[in-house]
Amino acid sequence: MKQAIGIFDSGLGGLTVMKEIHQRHPEYDYIYLGDNARAPYGPRDFETVYQYTLEAVQWLFNRGCPLVILACNTASAKALRTIQQKDLPGIDPIKRVLGVIRPTTEVIGDYTETKHIGILGTQGTVDSGSYVIEVGKAFPDVHVHQQACPDWVPLVESGDYLDFTVADPIIRDCLIKLLDQSDDIDTVLLACTHYPLLYPRIRAMLPPDITVVSQGEIVADSLSAYLLRHPEMETRLSKGGSLEFCTTGDPETFKHAAGAFWGEGVDVVQKVELL
Ligand code: DGL
Repeated sequence: MKQAIGIFDSGLGGLTVMKEIHQRHPEYDYIYLGDNARAPYGPRDFETVYQYTLEAVQWLFNRGCPLVILACNTASAKALRTIQQKDLPGIDPIKRVLGVIRPTTEVIGDYTETKHIGILGTQGTVDSGSYVIEVGKAFPDVHVHQQACPDWVPLVESGDYLDFTVADPIIRDCLIKLLDQSDDIDTVLLACTHYPLLYPRIRAMLPPDITVVSQGEIVADSLSAYLLRHPEMETRLSKGGSLEFCTTGDPETFKHAAGAFWGEGVDVVQKVELL
């Protein structure tokens, strides 16, 4: 039976990725799952992020999804490889779980002329070293400078990012710390799916000659290429054009906040339990 694509994030940030994927491929069915009750994942240890992510993936598999995208850098950094290598063969060897880090690192080197890029991410993503390792494989001549922004996900999830008097000092502090690491950075990657909501402020604060890159379009392009390379997966995806939004948190809160991430209002949100 053909089924929906599952998209997972710790909270609302993955909607910025799903938006780009849906724009390219409105024909597929999608189920979005946000683990809002347990967000943020950024400060959590490896084992916890892995357990939570595995529960979410299992839930989406149980809903029938043959393909799950971890639209979360922290989960991609801390859980994806173990799920792909250890869990998937035992759960269902023909289902697939994809992340957002590999697609991004495969192209990010093309954006920089100075060969110095800055990565802004959660504490968990930065500590994992995943970007340093993966960019090093794809673009060995590119220097990676990382800055953790532990307050940015709570800023976005709470909606406080809309108050510039609150948000600007928090954003500026991390940008200064990143740029202090090198004068040569010409490309800054928003390596957290929540950060595109901060893009206008980040863009305004950074010098105009620095390129600011969000992941949504990159991940959407990568998925299109993946489905072309894997017709056996593509033919397992249902094409009803439906959207389902699910959260472990409060559906009303999700509904009110989701519009800013998704680009338009979200009418129906289901409450789900992962345990
Ligand atoms: N959107 C997630 C990411 O891309 C945020 C993680 C968190 O919950 O801290 O990393």
